[in-house]
Amino acid sequence: MAEHLLAIDDVAEDLDRILRWAIAFKQDTELADEFKPLDGLSIGSIYEKPSTRTRVSFETGIHRLGGQPLTLLKGDIQLGKSETVGDTAQVLSRYLHALTYRCFAHSDVEELAKHSTVPVINALSDRHHPCQAAADLMTIMEKDPKLENTRVAWVGDGNNVLHDLMLACAILGVDCTWAIPEGYEPDEEVVNRAEELASKSGAVLKQTNVPEEAVKDATIIYADVFVSMGEEDQKDKFAAFDGFQINMELLEHADDDWSFMHCLPAHRGEEVTDEVMDHAQSIVFDQAENRMWAQMSLLTYLCDIGAWETWAEFLDL
Ligand code: CP
Ligand code: NVA
Repeated sequence: MAEHLLAIDDVAEDLDRILRWAIAFKQDTELADEFKPLDGLSIGSIYEKPSTRTRVSFETGIHRLGGQPLTLLKGDIQLGKSETVGDTAQVLSRYLHALTYRCFAHSDVEELAKHSTVPVINALSDRHHPCQAAADLMTIMEKDPKLENTRVAWVGDGNNVLHDLMLACAILGVDCTWAIPEGYEPDEEVVNRAEELASKSGAVLKQTNVPEEAVKDATIIYADVFVSMGEEDQKDKFAAFDGFQINMELLEHADDDWSFMHCLPAHRGEEVTDEVMDHAQSIVFDQAENRMWAQMSLLTYLCDIGAWETWAEFLDL
């Protein structure tokens, strides 16, 4: 069992059950209201970058599980000013029972985990966004419970969100194709990890530079911003993404039963049109809600595996 969640393959072994637990829990509101595995526990969340979904879904999810959420904004704490990541981890481990961390460099969340004696959850780094991938696959499972008819197409940047999406698809046996402009491909080491997982699950992973090729017959069309947080000075990047917008014309190549997904926040008019965002087949707000349910399952799994297993048995998972 994983000690920390830095990338989604840290929980590869139990990912399927973690997501089914979240779905069953979401469906049983009575159970969700009674279950308090974090009673008496305090969970701290450090943010170096802005957040709407991650921050609010962690705060509300922790509260629902009976715990105390503490949000620590980088401007308000000593981290990065007069204290190292390692010292911060050792101090916070004395008060808190788990930590979530949204940072710029992935090496910082690795450093926090190295020095922390309590579970650390990556709440987005420049390399990984595992909580997003958990919610994404949960949302796909709500539509296709056995994941038998799902083909995922990513169109855009080879970034943090794609890394964990491809890893999660590879773990769960879901075919995934990404269309990326030349020069913006995903990290080779992550792709190799995904290929290795896919060789066990049977998932087919493909890379192309042609959006229409990725979208062809896909059931899930996924977009993210072209310029991620921390890359704001790379505005010249936009030119490379010409033709990579998700619009109704591109969706003509998809399966008729397509769903549109986006981790949000969306830059309407850039990577996606209003028409697609607001379409009846857009499931972006279900996806946003599921951040909370998926993280509740992950938090329980990492903080109290006994309680998580008891409910997994009760839910017949
Ligand atoms: N998707 C996501 O992580 O959103 P926030 O940046 O609002 O947390
Ligand atoms: N790729 C985006 C995701 C935001 C949730 C970023 O890192 O800014």
